[in-house]
Amino acid sequence: MTTKNHEAGAVLWFTGLSGAGKSTLAEALVPRLRGAGKKVEVLDGDVVRTNLSKGLGFSREDRDTNIARIAFVANLLARNGVIVLVAAISPFRNARDDARALIGQNFVEIHVAPPLEECIKRDVKGLYKKAIAGEIAQFTGVSDPYEEPLTPEVKIDTSLVSVDAGVTQIENQLRALGVLASNGAGVTASL
Ligand code: ADX
Repeated sequence: MTTKNHEAGAVLWFTGLSGAGKSTLAEALVPRLRGAGKKVEVLDGDVVRTNLSKGLGFSREDRDTNIARIAFVANLLARNGVIVLVAAISPFRNARDDARALIGQNFVEIHVAPPLEECIKRDVKGLYKKAIAGEIAQFTGVSDPYEEPLTPEVKIDTSLVSVDAGVTQIENQLRALGVLASNGAGVTASL
């Protein structure tokens, strides 16, 4: 095959605790990327677990399987020019590094990193309350580890910055990395 993929895709991998704001940031980024003429798909942990990973639990083995499946699908899409937004806790560094190795240079790790206390305070799904009461085993951040990325391309503390500011931070980094055109045409039309 001599066809060159002139419109490279990418995988924006949002990792962080439950309730950190991964899905919120990813969803807010979607219209901006589409506005820049990109094809976009979202692979959200909660959605993946009701479809592709139905039946998997939260042991390390099951989480690693879940992440490997997401990475596999994300890679297929990205190599066909799609910008794939993954939003999954993905708590284990090895699994994230495997995803990076599979996907290559267009893997962008975004650590969504409010303090655990902020996630507990938000408790959007009421799961921290249950986990702290001992009603949910192996809950990330409470009774199961979260291994922070050592050198993420982006790190956002959502207890300090707004969704809009976080999305802008990601866009700026995507321009710096060459995933988005550096003139930002169609991305910051409102600025
Ligand atoms: S991952 O560890 O395999 O990456 P994933 O992002 O797919 O996790 O799913 C996390 C979601 O599952 C959480 O947002 C929460 O709603 C739910 N959940 C249920 N049990 C657990 C648990 N033990 N640890 C973390 N999340 C859990």
